[in-house]
Amino acid sequence: MRRTVDWADGAVVIIDQVALPSEYRTLTLRTVDELIDAIRRLAVRGAPALGAAGALGVALAAFNGSDVAVEAERLASARPTAVNLRWGVTRALTRLGEGADAVLAEALALLEEDERLNREASGLAAEVVLSACSRRPLRLLSHCNAGRLATVAWGSALGVVWHLHARGLVESVLVDETRPLLQGARLTAWELAEAGVPYRVQPDSAAALAMARGMVDCVLVGADRITANGDVANKVGTYSLAIAAAHHGVPFVVVAPSSTVDTTLATGAEIEIEERRADELTHFAGTRVAPEGAAVFNPAFDVTPAALITAVVTEHGVFKPA
Ligand code: MRU
Repeated sequence: MRRTVDWADGAVVIIDQVALPSEYRTLTLRTVDELIDAIRRLAVRGAPALGAAGALGVALAAFNGSDVAVEAERLASARPTAVNLRWGVTRALTRLGEGADAVLAEALALLEEDERLNREASGLAAEVVLSACSRRPLRLLSHCNAGRLATVAWGSALGVVWHLHARGLVESVLVDETRPLLQGARLTAWELAEAGVPYRVQPDSAAALAMARGMVDCVLVGADRITANGDVANKVGTYSLAIAAAHHGVPFVVVAPSSTVDTTLATGAEIEIEERRADELTHFAGTRVAPEGAAVFNPAFDVTPAALITAVVTEHGVFKPA
């Protein structure tokens, strides 16, 4: 399977996540403007994949002879919540003085590491899940998409599923559809189907009932930013899921590469939460569903307080904020 984000013939090549699951195709992005548009439309999305896209975007700017500092800032601020985007841009910029080839080499090294670090983090998280849950095989719950598509390859939270599935330890995954853009129903379900892992899609709002009925052994989510105190920003709905999990005594495990950790922020209250366009809610599949003129609150992320989290796992180890 190809990388979610890659470099080929002087361009950034991404798997088009807007087209999935009906069509599996790639997009070739030759300018920073095209890449920024793809980031904003979520054609490339997920914190680690955004880090890779940001780094390759700096290479694109360097080869295209643009004002790289200006283009880098535009890229880094294309989406504000996932710290990985600015991290990827900043890392690629460190080699700018050595020329465009060096910037690209740094970006490609970041891509290489992404798969390795996500494999390591999710491997450690698999052990956390096995020690926190006694039932075998496991029934897991996933929110949004933290799989291969959200990273360069492999995945973070869904990477745990790949590790456990390879050992025959996964009974099924409950997939939150993930309103309003359906990253769970469209992308996570597609990945699980490709991998042959049994799953069921559910409305986000069914998660508490599933836990009350004893259908969930562990909740697994990724992260867009983890602050110094262990608070976690992730796809909107994660916070409600953590409250429900705490109420029902279900372990709640966060998995992310260390590039998602932002120790410059003390708590999650300082994280900028992206708010997205109203029509993502007022319309469904192009058809208006809310009355004309309906006011909308459409945050793309929320912040789960550290106290509700069983463990945050990166490639560096297991942190137990609670
Ligand atoms: O708006 P998105 O689709 O970019 O949001 C993605 C998420 O919230 C993921 O859970 C997060 O980036 C972790 S991905 C390994």
